Amino acid sequence: MNRPVLEGLRLNVPASVRHTELIEWVARTAALTEAREVVWCDGSIEEYDRLCQQLVDGGTMRRLNPAKRPNSYLAWSDPSDVARVEDRTFICSERQEDAGPTNNWVAPAEMRALLQTGDNALFKGCMKGRTMYVMPFSMGPLGSHISHLGVELTDSPYVVISMRTMTRMGKAALELLGSDGHFVPCVHTVGAPLEPGQKDVAWPCNKTKYIVHYPETQEIWSYGSGYGGNALLGKKCFALRIASTMGRENGWLAEHMLILGVSTPSGKKYHVAAAFPSACGKTNFSMLVPPEGYQGWSVTTVGEDIAWIKPGKNGRLHAINPEAGYFGVAPGTNDHTNANCMAMLKRDVVFTNVALTDDGDVWWEGMSDEPPAHLTDWQGRDWTPEIAKATGAKAAHPNSRFTVSSIHNPVLDTEWDNPEGVPIDAFLFGGRRSTTVPLVTEARDWAEGVYMAATMGSETTAAIAGQVGVVRRDPFAMIAFAGYNMADYFQHWLNVGAKLAAAGGAQPKIYCVNWFRKGADGKFIWPGYGDNMRVLEWIVGRLEHRAGGAENAFGISPRYEDLRWDGLAFTREQFQSVIGIDRSAWQQELVLHQELFTQLTHHLPRELPATKARIEQRLAA
Ligand code: OXD
Ligand code: MN
Repeated sequence: MNRPVLEGLRLNVPASVRHTELIEWVARTAALTEAREVVWCDGSIEEYDRLCQQLVDGGTMRRLNPAKRPNSYLAWSDPSDVARVEDRTFICSERQEDAGPTNNWVAPAEMRALLQTGDNALFKGCMKGRTMYVMPFSMGPLGSHISHLGVELTDSPYVVISMRTMTRMGKAALELLGSDGHFVPCVHTVGAPLEPGQKDVAWPCNKTKYIVHYPETQEIWSYGSGYGGNALLGKKCFALRIASTMGRENGWLAEHMLILGVSTPSGKKYHVAAAFPSACGKTNFSMLVPPEGYQGWSVTTVGEDIAWIKPGKNGRLHAINPEAGYFGVAPGTNDHTNANCMAMLKRDVVFTNVALTDDGDVWWEGMSDEPPAHLTDWQGRDWTPEIAKATGAKAAHPNSRFTVSSIHNPVLDTEWDNPEGVPIDAFLFGGRRSTTVPLVTEARDWAEGVYMAATMGSETTAAIAGQVGVVRRDPFAMIAFAGYNMADYFQHWLNVGAKLAAAGGAQPKIYCVNWFRKGADGKFIWPGYGDNMRVLEWIVGRLEHRAGGAENAFGISPRYEDLRWDGLAFTREQFQSVIGIDRSAWQQELVLHQELFTQLTHHLPRELPATKARIEQRLAA
């Protein structure tokens, strides 16, 4: 394509860009969306600061008091645009059965007509009056053989500054693309074109939303939302939905998992990858502060939301965190629940939808025991504890977030940016369940572990638009993120395990955990947070063939004497109420497992019903 033509379209292609396919795609998208101008992002701090100032000037963000929270900002979104929209998320594979019954599916041609090609296609003219930013980015350490490149086009400067924190975005990624490097094309618009002279709003978005994935062509098209995973397309759309399809084809795993390092007093280090649904404590667990009595133990963070896991040359699974920053849930975070996180949030943070204090700082429910006497809530309204008591109004939205670079994490693992990743010793799967599921259970083998993960249930949280607190099946914490048929996804996990075994490599051990069992008083029984170290210690003990346990219907769990209780008053009875298997609750639970298997019956690996039958036999015994 010749440059004068491109310049006519005001594409502003930097001289250093040599990737013809990229330039042509940018040109096509600029023409489709009728963007006013095109800006190529270099990922520099100057660019970040300039866009932050632009967002402040435009009313999207405010600068927080620099004496309290240096170089930090607060954004308040439109009240209708506060969470991921799963009912508006689509996997548009050629065949419906490849998306499977747990994903929304529309035929690609139909979706393209709706979004791109039809007379009233939503992307036609959607960026009128706005700048289209071009962001090359790397998911994972630059140049790592586990990493992949993407380019996001967006009309939201808030998305640009967020992607700079969340990914390795800019010049270095562009250089890696060279003249013909592969990239995942991601197009995002807030869906709010501006007519000449029309004044912009603080948080442009559209009531109509589409978060669309075409797995065969690895494209992502997102319309109408400026919030989180709907808009930062490197995160859920690429690093999970598209990457899971890439992983299936090429023998690796893209998972909704934190990755942590746990170091023992004897100088050993293990790596654990753990899947929990959204807003169930992945960030807290990945930054855990060991309790008193655990001198010599430490937990370090490789990642806190997503893991890409590939078989390494040594026959083991190696994981990287494809992200470079954290987009974490703020409410409930405090010096007790996550002191490391509070330290990480001292500066250089963008907060979204938390409350503003009268002295220009931030606050959210659970940050302190005593709320401030007056705040401005996330919708800009006066908030006092009295108002909250009378109306139930939350100062911060329950899904309010912080966006911060990993490098501010005081317990960042030294290997977090290692292009080779870290070897995984154990997988943990944990839902939010007030009943039934024990504190921790070890799978007897890989298939039983896959069963535990596949049948995981969890109570829904505010991270997803819709009802909160209903138990739904969330296999592998991937219900919203698997880019292909969930039954095929289970098979892929079984295949990865079988391949490891066939190659003589070590299969990581698999555990099911649940920090959230409640007593008759409705309160959590297990203290959680730092005390989860006790469970982690038991797991390390199992990896080292030291720790004891007892067989139950579902796997192997510790007995009271198998955990260390220094510094925690937790009775045998309390322990029983978090570890016990209630036969009738389990019979009910298995009915729900069966419902899932019935839904996924097409392609369901036979190992899963076979494992279920064995659990039933043990329960009956
Ligand atoms: C997230 C989520 O933002 O899972 O990480 O919703
Ligand atoms: Mn997540």
